Amino acid sequence: MNDRAISGGHQEEDSAFEASLRPKRLAEYIGQDRVKETLRIAITAAAARKEPLDHVLLYGPPGLGKTTLAGVIATEMGVSIRITSGPAIERAGDLAAILTSLQPDDILFIDEVHRLARPVEEVLYPAMEDFALDIVLGKGPAARSVRLTLPPFTLIGATTRYALLAPPLRDRFGSVFRLDFYDEEALVAIVRRSAAIMGVGIDDEGIRELARRARGTPRIANRLLRRVRDYAQVMADGHVSGKVARQALGQLEVDDIGLDDIDHKVLRTIIEKFDGGPVGLDTIAASISEDADTVMDVYEPYLLQMGFIQRTPRGRIATARAYAHLGLEPRPDAAEEDPQGQLWR
Ligand SMILES: Nc1ncnc2c1ncn2[C@@H]1O[C@H](COP(=O)(O)OP(=O)(O)O)[C@@H](O)[C@H]1O
Ligand SMILES: [Mg+2]
Repeated sequence: MNDRAISGGHQEEDSAFEASLRPKRLAEYIGQDRVKETLRIAITAAAARKEPLDHVLLYGPPGLGKTTLAGVIATEMGVSIRITSGPAIERAGDLAAILTSLQPDDILFIDEVHRLARPVEEVLYPAMEDFALDIVLGKGPAARSVRLTLPPFTLIGATTRYALLAPPLRDRFGSVFRLDFYDEEALVAIVRRSAAIMGVGIDDEGIRELARRARGTPRIANRLLRRVRDYAQVMADGHVSGKVARQALGQLEVDDIGLDDIDHKVLRTIIEKFDGGPVGLDTIAASISEDADTVMDVYEPYLLQMGFIQRTPRGRIATARAYAHLGLEPRPDAAEEDPQGQLWR
């Protein structure tokens, strides 16, 4: 299920490409203007003070550029970045080893920071706050604790689930940035840039077809570009025109706004099996044979963003816009979409 062309999640085939397509500098990082501007100021100020940057938390759906941005920050600060993830740090000792091996002002990037184990978090708190590591020597009544001083560092945490972050951890980040879905113009720029790097011949109409169907997500834009390039090579003369792009995307069952058969299944489940909802997340997940977490992380954010579904205390409901997109007659009382109330959390 996860190899669908339009999942924002990272897939095996992405790795080789992502390395070459990742922007390295802030100026190359397209979109997210508000985030970039705030970061630019913070980076300049920290550099002028010769201090490490305040700890940064990046959150938002998969594929929007969290890992990329962490790398960009390191480049702009002129420091090294050490990359790990919440589930990879199993014991408190693992984190202590990482922390003591950092050079002054280095960046420690912890992906999926909401999945840190409790005891590991406990080590992280004094490290973030005081650049200190508390080590307990001995056991029982004789045990005593010594405090080691760590080199100053910047923690950059990334998560798709802000709400799952322990509040004490949340509070220790000096700046918190939510990455938003990209608008079409930003995606046009991203596809154009990636095509140039990959040497793909594609015209403006082709670029726009991809941008429109990329679900506001750079990783998906890049993936669609690769698929469309393959299609153009085999089925056409290698050049990606609007027509070739449309044919290729049609074959991938990506509709004109980037929804695929799984999104359609989610919407149809709510509309046809549950009369428009409300229906619980678990039920929706079962209907597409996925776990609830995946639905929440991968499928739901974009459907919410597009105003196709709404979250209510009793479950998800399909909006009039969802009925219209599927060419169905809406339930008379179907909810109007309410993008303002749909802010991704
Ligand atoms: N702002 C951006 N400008 C250009 N390309 C981007 C941008 N953000 C992400 N990308 C592309 O999308 C891919 C996925 O981004 P990544 O940082 O891995 O997402 P996340 O960590 O949020 O899942 C990267 O390899 C990069 O090529
Ligand atoms: Mg990432």
